[in-house]
Amino acid sequence: MDFKLNEDHTMIRQMAKDFAQKQIAPKAAELDEKAQFPTENIRQMGELGFMGMMAPAELGGAGLDTLSYVLVLEEISAACASTAVTMSVNNSLFLGPILKFGNEAQKKMFIPDFAQGKKLGAYALSEAGSGSDAAALITTVTLKDGKYILNGSKIFITNGPDADAVIVFATHDKTKKHKGISAFIVEKNAKGFSVGKVEKKLGIKASSTSSIILDHCEVPVQNRLGEEGDGFKIAMSTLDNGRIGIATQALGIGQAAFAFATKYATEREAFGQPISQFQLIQGKLADMALQLDAARLLVWRAAWMRDQGMKITKEAAMAKLFASEAATFVTKEAVQILGGYGYSREYPVERYFRDAKITEIYEGTSEIQRLVIAREVLKDLVR
Ligand code: CAA
Repeated sequence: MDFKLNEDHTMIRQMAKDFAQKQIAPKAAELDEKAQFPTENIRQMGELGFMGMMAPAELGGAGLDTLSYVLVLEEISAACASTAVTMSVNNSLFLGPILKFGNEAQKKMFIPDFAQGKKLGAYALSEAGSGSDAAALITTVTLKDGKYILNGSKIFITNGPDADAVIVFATHDKTKKHKGISAFIVEKNAKGFSVGKVEKKLGIKASSTSSIILDHCEVPVQNRLGEEGDGFKIAMSTLDNGRIGIATQALGIGQAAFAFATKYATEREAFGQPISQFQLIQGKLADMALQLDAARLLVWRAAWMRDQGMKITKEAAMAKLFASEAATFVTKEAVQILGGYGYSREYPVERYFRDAKITEIYEGTSEIQRLVIAREVLKDLVR
């Protein structure tokens, strides 16, 4: 087992860190305060290849592996979690299923601009009545005059207001449950497609989240991803990969909070000495470091396994569950170490604390990750 990153991975990580700290971190507080979408960050990241990291070079992507992706995404997340989720959704939830399940024409049409940050993608699975129980979705699809007609609405869609195209899941026949679901690439200019309510959120405020309304929305037959009825499996397999991204986002947020709190603890004095000299603070720093290291190992393992072409359902869920709970723990402790300053908007720690929470919710709650892990563990027993 080799825990040392190779030269390429070390280089891309350093490049991402330099870029994130110079270009992204200085703007993060203002974007958060104004809940302003990070358009310029996305454009710059597109130029660097970060918006389509695992797409092949011949389709305009960076042609890199999943480990490179998580190394870059951790650095972007440490600088601005809102920018990071925008990047993660475009890479994993939009480009991911097209690369895996799309035909050649779909790849040629949808990969290049989205991989280069010229266009942005989203993924629309959740509905008002189906979040965790994704197979219970009720958005319908019918085939009429050679076109698919979609009716329904989707909620909590990351990138929703800014997306140029969205992977949408709809059912042909509710009685078939998950087997009745298909996936479609729906462009924002499709007739009957509109953006609904834009969410105001606790954290990741600079990322955009909205509902999407499909009112007799017309989708060309050639925009169906996979076969009719394959949609649920496409959704689940896409989320396996997406969960590595959210785990990484959590790791980056936690790492940023830890770095800030550690430095603060060495500078802030109380009772005549830096607070880092107190064992109660040291205990916190030790627990924070431990949580982050364990999270990183789980994230890297899931990424490495994906690069080997292995099944990652359990490992991605473990990485996401552990890293998101670690981020919530670490950011809470960071606020505590900073005391009143941790609660103040003067410092970034309160933003890290707010941003961390969503990682325990989207792309499958912690409860769903536990369910996925338990099911896989039980399957392993009978294998
Ligand atoms: N890969 C491929 N296929 C899979 C799979 C996977 N990871 N998981 C399940 N399947 C297949 C199963 O093999 C089964 O296939 P067969 O019919 O051939 O047997 C089929 O899918 C149904 O599987 P289950 O019986 O396990 O399905 P279920 O209804 O019990 O649901 C669940 C499973 C894990 C609870 C699933 O519904 C789930 O993951 N829920 C959470 C959804 C979620 O994460 N939503 C977030 C949306 S994205 C988002 O957050 C917004 C954003 O923009 C960031």
